[in-house]
Amino acid sequence: MAQINRLYQAILDQNPEEVLLSIFAELVDYTELHFSHEESMLAEYGYPQLEEQQIEHRQLTRQVLDYRQKLTGGDTVSATEVMGFLRNWLLEHIVKHDRQYGSYLESRGGRFIE
Ligand SMILES: [Fe+2]
Repeated sequence: MAQINRLYQAILDQNPEEVLLSIFAELVDYTELHFSHEESMLAEYGYPQLEEQQIEHRQLTRQVLDYRQKLTGGDTVSATEVMGFLRNWLLEHIVKHDRQYGSYLESRGGRFIE
């Protein structure tokens, strides 16, 4: 995910605030679009663990919105913490969790979306 690299660079440059704000503005759009697309596709193919996905999507969306609210409100947000969140999200959700439905869809002639 491109946002992780940008954040990492901002930490090295010791100027994360501005970058954090733009990352979260993008992430809010990304999560809404990605998750709603994913959920309607999974519903269409009758994916058995759809509800688990939806619960996790809602939690991730809430976290993204909380971070953004803190940032726009001028609260301090740890760049290291955000880095951990993004990495966790990427590894735990997109890679592991979403791969599971990927193989399910393939077995039914569907297609894995990135
Ligand atoms: Fe998902």
